[in-house]
Amino acid sequence: MEGKAQVGGEAQDATALESKTVVLGVTGGIAAYKAADVASLLIRSGAEVHVVMTEAATKFVAPLTFRTLSRNPVAVEMFSDSGEWNVRHVALAEKADVVVVAPATANVIGKVASGIADDLLTTVIMATRAPVLFVPSMNEAMYENPIFRANLDRLLALGYRAMEPGTGYLACGREGKGRMPDPREIVAEVRRILSCRRDLAGFTVIVTAGPTEEAIDPVRHISNRSSGKMGYALAEAARDRGAKVVLVSGPTALSDPAGVEVVRVRTAREMLDAVMGRLGGADAVIGAAAPADWRPASVAPRKLAKGDGPMTLELETCEDIIATAGKRKDGRVVVGFAAETHDLIEHAAAKLAAKNLDFIVANDVTRPGSGFGSDFNEVKLLFPDGRTESLPLMSKGELAHKILDRVAALLGEIQEM
Ligand code: PMT
Repeated sequence: MEGKAQVGGEAQDATALESKTVVLGVTGGIAAYKAADVASLLIRSGAEVHVVMTEAATKFVAPLTFRTLSRNPVAVEMFSDSGEWNVRHVALAEKADVVVVAPATANVIGKVASGIADDLLTTVIMATRAPVLFVPSMNEAMYENPIFRANLDRLLALGYRAMEPGTGYLACGREGKGRMPDPREIVAEVRRILSCRRDLAGFTVIVTAGPTEEAIDPVRHISNRSSGKMGYALAEAARDRGAKVVLVSGPTALSDPAGVEVVRVRTAREMLDAVMGRLGGADAVIGAAAPADWRPASVAPRKLAKGDGPMTLELETCEDIIATAGKRKDGRVVVGFAAETHDLIEHAAAKLAAKNLDFIVANDVTRPGSGFGSDFNEVKLLFPDGRTESLPLMSKGELAHKILDRVAALLGEIQEM
């Protein structure tokens, strides 16, 4: 395809980052060599790239590599005599539309979180008003170190961004979490950041995610196939748009998104308590969870014996979290999902009205590659005035932004009233 590069599995426009300046910070980790691919892909997407390396990074990759790729001088030293008249860190900080630190070591994240600016890169980060994206890459033990986690959380709470590292073979010879994500994913994230508005700054958003578990006895429960991916994607997207986010999550295998208050619950009743306890401070509630509709009427105190014949369970109705929030709106935006296997529009429209929602996201969960457990979703949005909007298959991250576009517009209307 002429003029197109393949980024993030999608055909990428060679002008996607045209007229954008990216300052690429490279720090001293083994993944520094992958930063050359990041630089190359950014340039192929049309960006002007300026590379700033830490002293340690130059031990892994020669500055000449980045100079050749970017066709710009590579900055390492704070006080070198470059012959430029302007102050180097200020010039780079002002020039940047986005600063990307890839790989970002625990050291650089710790320094920035502590307000230390003792080299060119940390000084550029401190001096810029542009969004800063950290791409942590380190061994798993370091990534899980509570000091590192606290530093990263502090940065995220301050509005800095970070990508989750991947899991796989690490340079220390072990399998684990800490690998730098694929350069194509990093470039896709840069594109998202540059197209992302901070339109939810000042708002608090509660998102529910994942399944609930309703106990039958001490070892068995009723649950469903929700992975939590949709709700977590919404929480991360709302955080990136500046919202204060509370993620009320049923049991999932996903790690807590940084910069988000995560409340882990098990049952629908606990999910209701967590949401209603925080409702007063919330501007929007989005129900992406799949809470149980029924639970066993009584929980056996001991493991039930198999016995000889079939078993009958008596079920009672669970609390409906999003309907309860919908009843007490008080100027809040309340959004639900509908997971349907048939009569999608009819069922979703009935839920939209019954739960007093501002809109509902209807997904046909029988479609392969979409809905429960998938990284993708294909949905229809239904509004109370009868409007329906069909959205094509897209990643849950992209869909989260589409949903939040509508939430932000509704919040804007409420503010104007
Ligand atoms: O978690 P993933 O694997 O990423 O999958 C995403 C998803 C398919 C779970 C998600 O996109 C989705 O459809 N969530 C809603 C699932 C569901 O419970 O649908 P429902 O039609 O039964 O419920 C309608 C609405 O009421 C939903 O907003 C639900 O959160 C809410 N509800 C339902 C039951 C209940 N006891 N309390 C609720 O708040």
